[in-house]
Amino acid sequence: MIKVAPSILSADPANLMGDINKVEGADYLHVDVMDGSFVPNLSFGLNTVQGLSKDTDIKLDVHLMIQNPENYVEQFVKAGASIVGVHVESTQHIARAIQIIKNAGARAEVVVNPGTPLTELEELLPEIDQVLIMSVNPGFGGQKFLESSISKVKRLSALRQARGLEFDIEIDGGISDKNIKAVYDAGVDVAVAGSYVFGAEDYTKQVQLLKELTK
Ligand code: DX5
Ligand code: ZN
Repeated sequence: MIKVAPSILSADPANLMGDINKVEGADYLHVDVMDGSFVPNLSFGLNTVQGLSKDTDIKLDVHLMIQNPENYVEQFVKAGASIVGVHVESTQHIARAIQIIKNAGARAEVVVNPGTPLTELEELLPEIDQVLIMSVNPGFGGQKFLESSISKVKRLSALRQARGLEFDIEIDGGISDKNIKAVYDAGVDVAVAGSYVFGAEDYTKQVQLLKELTK
């Protein structure tokens, strides 16, 4: 069964904990951090991660959409992140960023934009705990799922098997009941879902639906 990480970018920003407390069955909470430079939007930061880690037991999956993330990753781990994701496109020192995350005691994730080929990850795969395949261009919730990400996940999953590696594959952007089975069958372990969960009346039911469809 697939793991589900509701993205709080689509939750009520003035009542985050109220919304989070209404979601049962989430495997992680996905926290999008944006700097207005790597992506044309602003969102949560260190203080939100710190606050959430005190108020919820759900593991925090922090997706950094910021330039030079190596300067901040340690602080995000200290703030309570269980997984820290860094974009290959955001730094000249991706291997250093991974090292810092692992040394600080969290799971290291590398993220690739839709336009970035998997070859960018090849050298890094033995070092990382999770790969995040973006299925929309990062920056905003509620965008349309890019179908090309399914073949990308299939190729990554084949590579994982061929090289005997054990990293998890996560997908982020436009996930719903319409594509969850296809991404799961392609090899996805964890699906981020923002508007699909928080855009509905019953958040818990939405998480359950995604899981049911991959049973
Ligand atoms: C987009 C973010 C996503 C976003 C997903 O840049 O990384 O995590 O919240 O939202 P949906 O599921 O609505 O596409
Ligand atoms: Zn995200």
